[in-house]
Amino acid sequence: MSIRKIFLEGRLMIEKIKHEIEGLGALDIIRYIEQQFGNTAVFSTSFGIEDQVVTHLLAEAKSEASIFTLETGRLFPETYYVWNRTLEKYKLPIKAYYPNTEAVENLLTTKGPSSFYESVDNRKECCYIRKIEPLHRAINGFKVWITGIRAEQSANREGMSAVEWDAANNIIKIHPIFDWTLADVEAFLKSNSIPYNPLHDKGFPSIGCQPCTRAVQPGEDFRAGRWWWEDTSKKECGLHITTK
Ligand code: ADX
Ligand code: SF4
Repeated sequence: MSIRKIFLEGRLMIEKIKHEIEGLGALDIIRYIEQQFGNTAVFSTSFGIEDQVVTHLLAEAKSEASIFTLETGRLFPETYYVWNRTLEKYKLPIKAYYPNTEAVENLLTTKGPSSFYESVDNRKECCYIRKIEPLHRAINGFKVWITGIRAEQSANREGMSAVEWDAANNIIKIHPIFDWTLADVEAFLKSNSIPYNPLHDKGFPSIGCQPCTRAVQPGEDFRAGRWWWEDTSKKECGLHITTK
């Protein structure tokens, strides 16, 4: 099939899904994905609070969707803690994707372990090796990619939609808790005793790799602590770049 045809079919499918899930709550969106796509859906978790909500909903819906995490090699100890708690509570298989060994070896041999602080290009190079290339392997062959993205997280994400066609990766993306507020997420975690990253209570609303994430001050953007030394970037690592 030509690339143009794939693109047009993807766009049509997005409109259909948007129409069919209109007005549904997050659990019903997950149930919809289960009915329509079954085991051809895949969920990416970084074990952030939003992803913990989605994992809980997948378990509640007895979803057949696969779950994976991108183990960048630079995660916080607290992330491994909540990863373990999640396995204990839900007993769902979570596949770990590591970066290509040779690519990381070359990067550190030529530029050292902290090249990402030196330039935006270096930072993107590290994100490509540790996240984007493994992501391509993780979503390959699936029809739907589920995430925990919320509109409120950034101005960039406000411009996104709960259902999107990811033309770069040739996949449908669905964000079941797209419209939830932070208060909604926190209340859901509490009322369902969902394990979450202890850093959230220490001023970290958004958690990525340890060297590239810090706490935010009250009133600062949710994502202000990500790649905080960069002022020109849109604070995205490339996992969720939209073509809008
Ligand atoms: S990022 O692009 O800035 O890193 P963010 O941390 O806001 O993303 O998370 C948004 C969504 O991207 C999460 O809900 C999750 O689906 C996915 N994601 C982010 N980091 C990872 C990771 N390390 N492993 C798997 N999925 C991830
Ligand atoms: Fe590398 Fe930082 Fe990107 Fe993690 S967030 S992949 S450490 S540049």
